[in-house]
Amino acid sequence: MTLIDGKATARAVRAELKAETERFEAQTGKKVGLAVVLVGNDPASQIYVKNKIKGCEETGIRSFAHYLPEHATQKQVLSLVEGLAADENVHGILVQLPLPRGLDEGEILKAIPPEKDVDGFHAENVGALALGERGTVACTPLGVLELLKRYRIPLAGKHAVVVGRSRIVGRPMALLLLNEDATVTVCHSKTADLKEQCRRADVLIAAVGKPRLITKDMVKEGAVVIDVGMNRTEDGLCGDVDFENVAEKASYLTPVPGGVGPMTIAMLLKNTVACARRSCK
Ligand code: GUN
Repeated sequence: MTLIDGKATARAVRAELKAETERFEAQTGKKVGLAVVLVGNDPASQIYVKNKIKGCEETGIRSFAHYLPEHATQKQVLSLVEGLAADENVHGILVQLPLPRGLDEGEILKAIPPEKDVDGFHAENVGALALGERGTVACTPLGVLELLKRYRIPLAGKHAVVVGRSRIVGRPMALLLLNEDATVTVCHSKTADLKEQCRRADVLIAAVGKPRLITKDMVKEGAVVIDVGMNRTEDGLCGDVDFENVAEKASYLTPVPGGVGPMTIAMLLKNTVACARRSCK
């Protein structure tokens, strides 16, 4: 079994991006800029945002961090995002989710213009992905694809099973794999025969948020297993895959932490550089 090292892969991506931002600066006289908006005090979100800003520093991206209080109004958040949308030093805008209750997430995300939507959440970008056209793709599924590519795991003609259909991971993941010519099955909470579906997978992607949902009996011998889960349990952080047992059957497997997680931020930085590049065309 080959352990997929997301930390090392993310480091390699960041090094490539650093060279890219330096080139951008030399050619345009401008710095690539990313605005990050955090509303409220969610501890997990605070850590994610801190790591995103750290990633910017490591890759020569100028970050603009904006912190709003838990009880910020819809109008306050909207006017901040609208200001960033108009700011030419800002090439990408990220509003950290989930937003505190009471805020209209859909309306706030729509205020991010598609060309600055580094999360790939805007309907125009989701539409482009669904059509198999160019656009910004959500960071976590893009990170999974990047891992599969860098480990030279073939996808064309393979059976990929995605467990989970969230807007942030499952849905865009399935579309990305389809665009790579995989045969794709999407499973979810109403799937009648989850075990049987998973057992057919050459490539199995778990993105549900249930600790150790994917057990050894659900995995085909030699399958590639990618764990997108990040579950905080009493015995620490764990993924959606029963790692120790599945490791006996999988050909490739991602650990949690150190698998998909670091790649998500690397892809955010990559999307930001791509948005900056396109803004100059
Ligand atoms: N919260 C959890 N994952 C994400 C993500 O990819 N982007 C944003 N903006 N918020 C998140």
